[in-house]
Amino acid sequence: MFKKLLSLLLLGLLLVSFSSVVAQDDMMGFECPEGEATITAAGGAVGDEFELNLEQAERYMALCPNITVEFIEMPDSTTERLGLYQQFWQAQSPDVDLYQVDVIWAGIIAPHTVDMFEHMSEELVGEYFEGMINGQTIDGRLEAIPWFTDSGGLYYRTDLLEKYELDVPTTWDELAEAAAIIQEGERAEGNSEFWGYVWQGNSYEGLTCDAHEWLVAETGETFISPEGEINVNNDAFVAALERAASWVGGISPEAVTTYQEEESRAVWQAGNAAFMRNWPYAFGLGNAEGSPIADLFDYAPLPMGAERAAACLGGWQLAVSNYTDNLEAAVSVALFLTSPEEQKLRALSPQGANPTVPALYDDPQLIEDNPLFARMGPILETAFARPSGVTAERYNDASTIFFTNVHDVLTGSTDAQTAVEDIEFDLEDLLAEMGM
Ligand code: GLC
Repeated sequence: MFKKLLSLLLLGLLLVSFSSVVAQDDMMGFECPEGEATITAAGGAVGDEFELNLEQAERYMALCPNITVEFIEMPDSTTERLGLYQQFWQAQSPDVDLYQVDVIWAGIIAPHTVDMFEHMSEELVGEYFEGMINGQTIDGRLEAIPWFTDSGGLYYRTDLLEKYELDVPTTWDELAEAAAIIQEGERAEGNSEFWGYVWQGNSYEGLTCDAHEWLVAETGETFISPEGEINVNNDAFVAALERAASWVGGISPEAVTTYQEEESRAVWQAGNAAFMRNWPYAFGLGNAEGSPIADLFDYAPLPMGAERAAACLGGWQLAVSNYTDNLEAAVSVALFLTSPEEQKLRALSPQGANPTVPALYDDPQLIEDNPLFARMGPILETAFARPSGVTAERYNDASTIFFTNVHDVLTGSTDAQTAVEDIEFDLEDLLAEMGM
């Protein structure tokens, strides 16, 4: 299903020139819910995300003053966030009406969300990428509305590549080599804080993304195929893990094994890294006024492995809780926040959230004002979904097996061959429990 999602996503991107541009004044027909209510939304806070959410809430409240919209700030780590959400869901808590949910959770959230097909016209559903809608559809129910999409890419310092007369690396070996040369040079000039390459090595979902990228690049497949084949115990992945472990304390700080997205960005944006693996949100923030690296970097697809270049396909949606006491208002706020008009405003902000609406990729103002758009095409072409379709409600268990063992290799507490055998063994158990 997720391969289909991606091909449809890309097809959608290609077809954008035939689709209509979203009208600026569409919100004029927006109908507010009746009565007074407070809607609480659990949202992200990576980069400028929380401020963006608050601005959106303000706009909704200006339109519908009878409704109060409150955002609560959730942990940056996808893994921690899911743990927190699960506590609310277990308690069937009405305290949170809306949840910002990760693209990989459709199978996990299904019992706890309102079917959005019941609240959206066919015409409105048709405004979103079909593949993304399909990815969030379980048993004919739309679990969440796609809000923004992303995929991992390589940030590199254009000034430093020029200074050291290096090309943009297209293989992982070239990346390591260039990172080492620049790191040595910058340190020799007195910046002892300088690192070649920063990425996400903490034990959480973000590491699943990074390691899934290494694995797909080398083998062409992720850790569980759509048919349930486990793909980890092979020389190519062992070598990729050994390579990553060799970066730690070499071209990457020892502390990279505690880094999530924001820790990597902090080093990078302070001007202390030559390369960074991260999501598109770091582009606009790195170029924002006052950023020491503004205009000194670019963003490209990650390096090639033996098979291909691979980016982890990410993205976030908005789901209405089954346990809300204010269904009408919650649905209304969800539709507003994820609407094409609002997505356009988010895309124009420094956070540069990539829309889930094909027409926006044809919007002249966005094309002109959002330099990310030109770069995202080649990066999205390398995007590859994690195995959340095949593992459905057990995705987080599968991913946890994967990232904890990968983390053990990075910290040196186990060797790569043992780790892939352990991953294979535990995933076999998990799939067996699922009757596969
Ligand atoms: C980004 C992606 C999300 C992924 C997470 C991992 O937020 O959008 O899909 O799970 O990073 O850290």
